[in-house]
Amino acid sequence: MLIIYFIIINLIAFILYGIDKKKAIKDRFRIPERVLIFVAIIGGALGAFLGMHIFHHKTKKKKFSITVPVVLVIWILLVIWGFYQNHHIVITEYTYQNEKIGDDLNGYTIVQVSDLHNQYFGFDESRLIDEIRKCNPDIIVVTGDVVDSSHTNYKRALSFMKQAKEIAPVYYITGNHEKWLEEKKPDKINAFYEDIINEGINFIDNETAYIDDKYYLIGLSDDELGSGKLEELSKNLPKDKFKILLAHEPAYYDNYVACDMDLVITGHVHGGQFIVPGKGGFVSPEFEFFPELYEGVHTYKDTTMIISRGLGNSVIPLRVNNYPELVVIKLAK
Ligand SMILES: [Fe+2]
Repeated sequence: MLIIYFIIINLIAFILYGIDKKKAIKDRFRIPERVLIFVAIIGGALGAFLGMHIFHHKTKKKKFSITVPVVLVIWILLVIWGFYQNHHIVITEYTYQNEKIGDDLNGYTIVQVSDLHNQYFGFDESRLIDEIRKCNPDIIVVTGDVVDSSHTNYKRALSFMKQAKEIAPVYYITGNHEKWLEEKKPDKINAFYEDIINEGINFIDNETAYIDDKYYLIGLSDDELGSGKLEELSKNLPKDKFKILLAHEPAYYDNYVACDMDLVITGHVHGGQFIVPGKGGFVSPEFEFFPELYEGVHTYKDTTMIISRGLGNSVIPLRVNNYPELVVIKLAK
């Protein structure tokens, strides 16, 4: 979205400088100088700069020959900074302790990938894959929103899943964006689900898996949050066994606690997009300002919930002070 904006505004700036040059030659009504400067300031500085030099227009006017290059340099620095804010991956490591964890699970490592939204981390997501490999996981959990309606590169999402599976078994549940796509364009996303299953990804929406005879991993799809499905999935599970729930959204924590989940792994909130020091995440996907649940570890009775800030963006295309996050959970007895 941002890229499209920059392309359009720079094209507009370039064309405006060309039109104004023509008008100047023919001595017609001119485009006001403040408009030409304004389009440069709102992101069209490159188009304005090229327009000035290709059309030999305003290059001798100090107002333009200084302002436009200065604004261009500021924009270049802003774009580099914004790219870094949105593509530099940080790893957050948590150690989770529970008396249900025995020697067999002590040191067990879970890597969580949440809210990828097709974000670009190098060709074929190579940087993300490298970071996951470095964490040496026992399993990788993907907690929804691998794609969305404006980032629907299924091929890239599938390739990511395939590469991740080469590192460790992958367990995947859907987020709200997959659910929207299931309603709007079911054919493509259903084909994606089929592809990932064929590739050996464990798609566990509304399923309970008993992993290596050690613990239960429950996957709850986004459209079943708070619906009674979790009660159904968990009612016959033995109390003394360790249970991990994958659920996209943290807001249903009451339900997770009521269903006796030990560890809940969620995402969805994107860290509030912009993290304001001392105040926290700025806005949730539901446009709640400074939501309480935007990252980190939250404990309710015997249930611990971890919220990933996620890796990509959806509606708001920018993160500030909120680097894409890969969550690593180490189990400890
Ligand atoms: Fe998301």
